[in-house]
Amino acid sequence: MNEAAKWTEYYSRLDSLMAPNEYLLKMLLGRYAGKVDLLGGASWRTAFRGRRVLDMSCGDGRNIVLLHKLGFDISATEISDEICDSVHRNLANSGIDLARDRLRTGSNAAVPFDSASFDFVISWNAVYYLDDESDTIDRALGEVARVLQPGGWFICSVPGPRCYSVLGAHPLGGSRVRLEPAVNADWGGGLQKDAIYHLFQDPAEVGHLLAPMFEPVQVSELHWDGFGVPLHYFIFAARRRPG
Ligand SMILES: C[S@@+](CC[C@H](N)C(=O)[O-])C[C@H]1O[C@@H](n2cnc3c(N)ncnc32)[C@H](O)[C@@H]1O
Repeated sequence: MNEAAKWTEYYSRLDSLMAPNEYLLKMLLGRYAGKVDLLGGASWRTAFRGRRVLDMSCGDGRNIVLLHKLGFDISATEISDEICDSVHRNLANSGIDLARDRLRTGSNAAVPFDSASFDFVISWNAVYYLDDESDTIDRALGEVARVLQPGGWFICSVPGPRCYSVLGAHPLGGSRVRLEPAVNADWGGGLQKDAIYHLFQDPAEVGHLLAPMFEPVQVSELHWDGFGVPLHYFIFAARRRPG
């Protein structure tokens, strides 16, 4: 089964709570305002109203619930038409009427929106998925930069090398790996096995890869023990350079 078919099957049986990610919430509400000033001094109650956001690879749509509450003008992608259909249904069931044509099918390597369409791009645990062994993270980051307006923000989470999902992964050269999860291997019915990731090594690599297109790049590292499941992520906010 290819990656799109695996994820389509996964979401077709997911009984979602549509609960947004805590750290994304904190970034948007300005809880880290000393470092990541997405609000420009304004209150979160008004700062995002009408701002154009793309939730790239939105999953079941859980973070869209938060983006809707904050007043964003929302678009999103996923990797199959069926997942986009299910996101549309999930949102309708949560009382959110998002036009179906705002949900488009595409991968990190080819984002189905025009250049400079967005003030914010969010990719929560998704930008590092590569289409195949010939794909590179530069394509995905180039796509993020392309669809962002100059001055727009990229808000992102990626796993680090001590995260359960990448333990035991086979190196493919560079920072690319093919997954063979050694801990929590049955998560999502074994969904992650054989996925190809760009594995960011440390905050410095995040900064280095984004620097040509983004300034500033602010990275935070999260590492904790999830009842025996090691969790390790880099979360970052990066501003699209002008021009
Ligand atoms: C860990 S989930 C995260 C979903 C969502 N952003 C969230 O926070 O719940 C990873 C997502 O990446 C998508 N995905 C898998 N391969 C991809 C690729 N090559 N390009 C873009 N997205 C991909 C999957 O369909 C899945 O929804």
